[in-house]
Formats: sequence, C-alpha cells, structure tokens
Amino acid sequence: MKNLTFSFFILFLLGSHSNAIEIDYCVGDPSLPRGPQGYGCKDSSTLTVDDFIFTGFRGKKSITNIFQNNITTATVIEYPALNGQGISMARLDFGVGGVIPVHSHRTSEIIVVVKGTIIAGFIDTNNTAYYKTLEVGDVMIFPQSMLHFQVNVGRTVATAYVSLNGANPAVQLTPPSLFAGNLPAELASQITLLSRKEVMRMKRLFGTA
Ligand SMILES: *[C@@H]1O[C@H](CO)[C@@H](O)[C@H](O)[C@H]1NC(C)=O
Ligand SMILES: *[C@@H]1O[C@H](CO)[C@@H](O)[C@H](O)[C@H]1NC(C)=O
Repeated sequence: MKNLTFSFFILFLLGSHSNAIEIDYCVGDPSLPRGPQGYGCKDSSTLTVDDFIFTGFRGKKSITNIFQNNITTATVIEYPALNGQGISMARLDFGVGGVIPVHSHRTSEIIVVVKGTIIAGFIDTNNTAYYKTLEVGDVMIFPQSMLHFQVNVGRTVATAYVSLNGANPAVQLTPPSLFAGNLPAELASQITLLSRKEVMRMKRLFGTA
C-alpha cells in the first residue's frame, strides 16, 4: 500500500513536470480570451507566412515625446506569432540626449546597439548601479525584473534593439507610474520623499496636474 502511494506520487510528479509539446505553434488570436499562458490559437488553416513576420521595425522613427525616444515593441500584442514562444523584441530610438527612463519588465532583457553611443545600466536590489557607455555592436544583459535605463550620450541619434524572454514582458516606467497615473500627489510625495512642489512639477510635465 505504501509502495502504491509512493508510485502514485512519482507519477504525479512526472505528470506535473511533463512539458509535452502537443502542437508546433499557436499563433495568438487576440479576439479570444487571454489566459496566463497567452491567447488561444488562431485557426491554423488560415495561417500564412506573413503571420510569422513583423515589419514594424522598418524605416525612420520620429522623436516627439518628453523623453526624446521612440519605442517600437514587438510583443505578442503587435505580433501574435510570439504567443507561447517566451520571446519578444523592441526597437529603441533616441534623439540627441534622449533617454529611456528607469523601468522594469517581468523578464530579462538583452540589448545590442546598432547606431550611436548610449549609456546603459541597471540597478540591483542592493542599490548597486552597473552602467557603461556602449558603442555600436556592444551587448548588455539586464537581469530579470531589475530596474534599468538607457541614455543617448552621443552627438547623433542612436538606435538599439532589445530582446526579452517573454512574449508579453510589459514595461513599467518608474516616473510615469508615479506621476502620470491616478496616484494622488500627497501619496506620491509621501512614498518618494519628494516635496509636494516637485511632485506637482512632475505631474504637470505628464499633464496630470
Ligand atoms: C514613433 O515613430 C513612428 C514613425 O515615425 C511614429 O508613427 C510614432 O508616432 C512615433 N511614436 C512616438 C511615441 O513618438
Ligand atoms: C547584496 O548584499 C547582501 C548583503 O550585504 C550580500 O549578501 C549579497 O551578496 C549582495 N548581492 C550582490 C549581488 O552583490
């Protein structure tokens, strides 16, 4: 009896750890409900090669926002073929002096610079900042969930591509999360130790005051 129980336990473990692949791919159908594992699959008889291709990185990107950047994401939302693949990309364009403000994702991220010169860095949970000036061709990893940032320190525009090990990595930019959303100024001031005046300046910058 004891042995039987043990056998069931082992079977249970094997079952729960099995990662059997049942289908080749599951291009997401965003009109279907979305669960923690992603979207339901688009009818595979309707798929063409174009379902697997993303063309949103083409061409020149315009720089108009206050951070002087343009972020083009290729996540499962814009590119449903990534559904269930655990991978995504983004193109980062920087005006002169442009930045991607400090932010984090649910995933790790790896960056490669293809134009210009940027400082890239992350800050770990010990408040140690690891940052360096990257030239064209240089690659840096931002470990999972760590706060990280990029700054164009060259005299020209800069471009980099990143890859993230999740199909829907999300981005949580720290300044907008504090000052562009519905967090009241009083709370923002209390939880950051910034003066009420500085909080109001930030909220005006983001058009929320
Ligand atoms: C990024 O560049 C594209 C192409 O020029 C443009 O359509 C888009 O509005 C820009 N996005 C931002 C946030 O400036
Ligand atoms: C962070 O600090 C703790 C405590 O001082 C230390 O044990 C740990 O090794 C540090 N981690 C890193 C990545 O430096």
